[in-house]
Amino acid sequence: MTIALQILNLTRRFNDLVAVDNISFEIQQGEIFGLLGPNGAGKTTTLSMLATMLPPTSGSATVNGIDIEKDPDGVRKSIGIVFQDQSLDEELTAWENMDFHGRLYRIPSEARAQRIAELLTLVELNERRDDIVKTFSGGMRRRLEIARGLLHHPVVLFLDEPTLGLDPQTRNHLWEYIATLAKEKGITIILTTHYMEEADRLCNRIAIIDHGRIIAIDTPKNLKDGLGGDLVTIGSPDPAAVAAALIEPWVARVETHNNEVIVSLKNADQHVSSIVTLLNTRHIPISSITIHKPTLEDVFLSFTGKTIREQEAGIKETMRMHQRMMRH
Ligand SMILES: Nc1ncnc2c1ncn2[C@@H]1O[C@H](COP(=O)(O)OP(=O)(O)OP(=O)(O)O)[C@@H](O)[C@H]1O
Ligand SMILES: [Mg+2]
Repeated sequence: MTIALQILNLTRRFNDLVAVDNISFEIQQGEIFGLLGPNGAGKTTTLSMLATMLPPTSGSATVNGIDIEKDPDGVRKSIGIVFQDQSLDEELTAWENMDFHGRLYRIPSEARAQRIAELLTLVELNERRDDIVKTFSGGMRRRLEIARGLLHHPVVLFLDEPTLGLDPQTRNHLWEYIATLAKEKGITIILTTHYMEEADRLCNRIAIIDHGRIIAIDTPKNLKDGLGGDLVTIGSPDPAAVAAALIEPWVARVETHNNEVIVSLKNADQHVSSIVTLLNTRHIPISSITIHKPTLEDVFLSFTGKTIREQEAGIKETMRMHQRMMRH
């Protein structure tokens, strides 16, 4: 197997803030690799360093065997980027946006025209090639940006939040394109997301990133299996008593979150009645009980003690406090 990206102790500081904190990992050629984490986790900063748009504070990385600091031009030629914020020219047509990018990369005109037609067909936009981007939907714009990122035959494609703000159907559609690119064209894809489902369904492997650090890295399946089975969530006014009562050999793990106790165990459906009986005999009140298969949200919660949503709400609150302080 060929290594497409190798990252060693990569770190980026902004004054006192460590946005990316000593991360190391490798990505194989043809992999779809996801960086999953809440707002401010350091995902875009990581991609910006790998794409040579931002110098690292320390550490190193190679893309396609090329060092990001020693040969940034070489790296740029071998990668395509789709930015988090839309970067199309709205007043230009789909074709013109593509053509402009092709000229920047000095692709000769004949090859350029052929390649543009091929890529617009791939993302099903060839029929709309002469329409201005202003008239495109969010999903169409994203597809056009992906096509543009592929114009100069990159071997690695960076996608920063490829489906942010898109409806579920469009998101599904984009996932299919991305999967096809990796499978049929052998393109290595590194994407960032804070959508659990996107990481789960689309990525071969993911790194969960929080406060600039990688807290877990594996296939989605291994991460979920690592929780030790199904999850039973028990709501109770006395969660501490529930947690204490469930120290049993058939229980793999017990965690308390807010007013709920989350229990991991194999074959939960067979054990739920034992749980209820056990709690009843000890007169521990139960307000709710649910069983579900673990999701990446459960994995995130288990590693950080918070859900991604709570994490993001916390960041927003900190920002509001900061704004209030600045005003006074
Ligand atoms: N140019 C900059 N100057 C100062 N701080 C920055 C700069 N760019 C990013 N940061 C900070 O670095 C941290 C990581 O930001 P980054 O954009 O990498 O997060 P992210 O994971 O991409 O988040 P989101 O999901 O919101 O896109 C944040 O705290 C952010 O405020
Ligand atoms: Mg970002």
